[in-house]
Amino acid sequence: MSDSQPIASSSASKPVLWSSRFAFIMAAVGSAVGLGNIWKFPYITGENGGGAFVLVYLACIAIIGLPLMMSEVMLGRRGRKSPIGTMEVVAAAEKGSKNWIGVGLMATLAAFIILSFYSVIAGWTMPYIISAVTGDFNDIDAERSGDLFGQLLASPGQLLLWHSIFMGLTVWVSAGGVRHGVERAVTKLMPALFVLLIILVGYASTTGHFGEALGFLFKPDFSALTAESVLIALGHAFFTLSLASGAMMAYGAYLPQKVSIARTAMVVAVMDTGVALLAGLAIFPVVFAHGLAASEGPGLIFVTLPVAFGQMPGGGFFAALFFVLLLFAAWTSSISMLESLVSYLNEKGVSRVKAAIGGGFAAWLLGITTVLSLNLWSDFTPLDSLARFEGKTLFDLYDYLTANIMMPLGALLIALFVGWKMKPEHSQAELGAWHKVWFPIVRYVTPLALLIVFAFNLR
Ligand code: PHE
Repeated sequence: MSDSQPIASSSASKPVLWSSRFAFIMAAVGSAVGLGNIWKFPYITGENGGGAFVLVYLACIAIIGLPLMMSEVMLGRRGRKSPIGTMEVVAAAEKGSKNWIGVGLMATLAAFIILSFYSVIAGWTMPYIISAVTGDFNDIDAERSGDLFGQLLASPGQLLLWHSIFMGLTVWVSAGGVRHGVERAVTKLMPALFVLLIILVGYASTTGHFGEALGFLFKPDFSALTAESVLIALGHAFFTLSLASGAMMAYGAYLPQKVSIARTAMVVAVMDTGVALLAGLAIFPVVFAHGLAASEGPGLIFVTLPVAFGQMPGGGFFAALFFVLLLFAAWTSSISMLESLVSYLNEKGVSRVKAAIGGGFAAWLLGITTVLSLNLWSDFTPLDSLARFEGKTLFDLYDYLTANIMMPLGALLIALFVGWKMKPEHSQAELGAWHKVWFPIVRYVTPLALLIVFAFNLR
């Protein structure tokens, strides 16, 4: 077998592939662009002082995120299987221990846990679209807006309804398969998302506070930066690029052999970052125009933004567009979260439809515990006896476990595998000329950076 061929190419069944490089890019950008970019990035930037935080975040994407994304896509394409199957065959091909399969298992589990709570949050966009259209936000004040959000979170029935609909949408696309489900959805939704985003940035530029937002996002004030914010930036770099969750490995498995992994991964990382920055430019001018605080936290989008839109001409319409954008972004991400598990079950002989329904149903069930964490179980903080987990609800624990433990650990193991276990000739065959830059980074820089994060996190 030649090294430039994927390991599984000798297997009898022909692997399913994306129809084009464009399709892969839309799928991968669709996975990457999500609540992380439009909901989380603006508010953590707001909380961490703006420009300096953005700079650190960009560095994390370039130095750690991008090389890892290249690694995952490469592993996926060599294995041409689900993340679990891929780790098994790739490790065997490198004469590595069987235990490397654990990387695939952990990634699949992380994606599953994230999907369970992501679906609950993504569900919030739907009542917000309705409220925006029916004029609920007209001239709303901060208190009333906070109340509306509070009422939504306090209602298990409402949350469960939207969570169920969102999970249903995810399962529906996933059940359609790679080409007819995922590819078809992402190649329509992602262009629509870009158009919506451009319209919203254009609208924000009419507020007269665009310059202020630009300054906030791009003028670094290093005095606002703490060690904590550096960690937040790094953690977010993983999450926003969908790393260590199997998504990029699973999608990489469908990448045609002739496509350049390095160049494609760069396009994905640049687009993901571009969307996060544009989301900031759509949100902050509107927030500043009404003298509201950028440092509002998680409520920035669901509490502050309705107040701002509610005071603007045409605000209801643009608020609705905004929440549609958020819904599309979350949807294409959740589809990718389910892919690791669905492709694994499919490999084990379960039909795609059954795998999507079964996997989605299980994630939906787990999601109910997140729904309840926001209201009836908000005092249920089961790990209080451990100082680190004190006061954390089940939802907080899922978030902590995935973002602070499973993802950095998975990323570290992936970097160690491609940097130390895999033969450089093999990665060279996949990455071509970019291998020279990529290799020393994943071998030394990425693991070191990740070890530092761990040391800090476990302090
Ligand atoms: N990248 C997505 C976002 O920013 C989240 C995600 C994580 C998607 C893990 C897939 C896997 O919202």
